[in-house]
Amino acid sequence: MQVVATLSLKGGVGKTTVALGLAGAAQRHGVSTLVVDLDPQANATTALDPEPTTATVADVLDEPRRAVVERAIAPSAWGEGLDVLVGAEQTERHNHPDPGAAQLYRLDRALQRMAGELLADDGGNDSGLVEERYRLVIVDCPPSLGQLTRSALSAADRAILVTDPTMFSVSGVQRAFDAVQTERERSNDRLQPLGVLVNRVRPRNTEHEFRIAELRELFGPLVFNSVLPDRSAVQQAQGACLPIQAWDTPGAREISAVFTSLLGRVLRSASRDRPAASA
Ligand SMILES: Nc1ncnc2c1ncn2[C@@H]1O[C@H](COP(=O)(O)OP(=O)(O)OP(=O)(O)O)[C@@H](O)[C@H]1O
Ligand SMILES: [Mg+2]
Repeated sequence: MQVVATLSLKGGVGKTTVALGLAGAAQRHGVSTLVVDLDPQANATTALDPEPTTATVADVLDEPRRAVVERAIAPSAWGEGLDVLVGAEQTERHNHPDPGAAQLYRLDRALQRMAGELLADDGGNDSGLVEERYRLVIVDCPPSLGQLTRSALSAADRAILVTDPTMFSVSGVQRAFDAVQTERERSNDRLQPLGVLVNRVRPRNTEHEFRIAELRELFGPLVFNSVLPDRSAVQQAQGACLPIQAWDTPGAREISAVFTSLLGRVLRSASRDRPAASA
């Protein structure tokens, strides 16, 4: 199980769009995936349109037991192979600016328990020979660096930093990198930045070109070569609760190709983490 968080300190730059695009690509490629909606706005949950559940991620953060996790997960309406740990407005109560260490690990514990690696609390066997339920877990973060985003970073193997190509992007990306670095030192030595994905790029826009060049100068190869163009298909597909991969327009195909390449990068980074014997 590989856990990937989509992160930015700024609102509206495309975290949820990237989480959904990656989830759609994973589903297309037969990678069993869970989307964890940590944002109290619950936009990812709305777009993935799961069946009603009797618990949400807010309950999971109250009580990170396997039984509660199970009640908060439902299959997405996008079809087989993609589930949602559903978001809710109540998650806001877990967004303290300065949380304690125990609170930060709750999401990680819940995910590990769900993955079958910590079965003792629910009376399961402890052989450790449990089949992997999800190969990929994608955590969609809210636009702040409080407890929720830090909980995601405490549980994640990789963070995708999402930005738009505007004058504030450099400082925003730098702060997001610092947050990843801090969390790696403080709570999670597995965590690494996967890279910076620039979203809503308009072709032949000199300001956008300038900002992308600036990002590349500062962050080098961590800035993905592929950028996401600004395409109305993104909003249309989200409005119809469909994956961008199911939207058959030239713009949607352009966006889908970027997500396929992002998925490749995510999966390759997972195989690097695995010990050679089990790879
Ligand atoms: N490449 C794109 N082309 C066109 N529209 C886009 C693109 N990326 C995102 N959008 C639109 O921009 C809006 C904000 O995107 P999104 O919700 O993904 O951002 P976010 O970072 O998750 O926001 P928040 O901080 O509120 O969680 C949405 O309406 C989305 O459909
Ligand atoms: Mg969002």
